[in-house]
Amino acid sequence: MNYTTQTGPDTLIAANFLKLGEVVGIPTETVYGLAGNGLDKDTVLKIFNAKNRPHFDPLILHLGSIDRLTEYTRNIPPIALQLAEKFWPGPLTLLLPKKDIVPDLVTSGLDTVAVRVPNHPLALQLLALLDFPLAAPSANPFGYISPTTAQHVYAQLQGKIPYILDGGPCGIGVESTIVGFENNNAIVYRLGGISVEDIEAITGPVQVQISSSNPTAPGMLKSHYAPKKPLIVGEVNTLLNMFADRKTGVINLDKKVGGATEQIQLSPTGDLNEAAKNLFAAMRHLDASDVDIILADIFPETGLGRAINDRLKRAAAEE
Ligand code: TXA
Ligand code: MG
Repeated sequence: MNYTTQTGPDTLIAANFLKLGEVVGIPTETVYGLAGNGLDKDTVLKIFNAKNRPHFDPLILHLGSIDRLTEYTRNIPPIALQLAEKFWPGPLTLLLPKKDIVPDLVTSGLDTVAVRVPNHPLALQLLALLDFPLAAPSANPFGYISPTTAQHVYAQLQGKIPYILDGGPCGIGVESTIVGFENNNAIVYRLGGISVEDIEAITGPVQVQISSSNPTAPGMLKSHYAPKKPLIVGEVNTLLNMFADRKTGVINLDKKVGGATEQIQLSPTGDLNEAAKNLFAAMRHLDASDVDIILADIFPETGLGRAINDRLKRAAAEE
């Protein structure tokens, strides 16, 4: 189906489309999502199709509040509840045993479902208008950089969805942190908007299990978040010397460098939260500019720096 895609801040319009079984772009604090009724198999299928997403990559269910959690999940470990109470609404996704009401297509047949309560005023307003949870992957074509503005969504999905709810630029800028459980122990499967340090403050030391072919998080493929231009991660001044004959676009934290065709400092004050917020827009900007190659610095491995390094590494991976 070919739509005339409208963009606007009207949660009633978005809610009406969603009640009709349509798929709409929605803002969250992390990245924009491509949302639909998460209890309706046909709508979930539309989400996969609009994104060209393989069905083996499960979706996150977005809930309006923590009170809805037991409608969709069961056997919730106490530590999961503690994390939810601390960080929801917020950029934390929990993997919990699913109830039968959640379609198998949402979870790619897994026995667990990913759930979170997003921390964005329009997303919460929208969810309050609905009696179903929203299944929503990031609103980018499969494998490309996640969108952090309504314009990013429009550029790639216009014609494929009827409406994009515009909530302005996302405040966090990288996807949610994904945490699963073995017995009552938390395991981090995707680095994201809540730092490992903040999680460990609640849980004590956690295992971080990030791999390119993680069967527990099948979507964590290496080539995720990739721009179309080659992106290389390393010490930026060394890279600039290596590629002195090319038009280079540099992404780094706070230092001015010489010799780049274009440079984006993600946070002139060295703030890793601000850097995360600006990361994906910077990658998109350089991808669309006339540089030949994108050179990205290695960020400090602390706070959201870990999620930034993770996304850059994936963006740099060939396949
Ligand atoms: O911040 C976010 O999480 C954004 C916004 C829109 O909420 N959403 C997002 O969704 O990043 P998506 O679909 O791009 O990434 C969800 C990830 C995928 O890597 C998927 O494999 C993993 O969550 N996932 C979902 N359900 C899972 C499950 N039951 N077990 C393991 N991994 C799961
Ligand atoms: Mg995604």
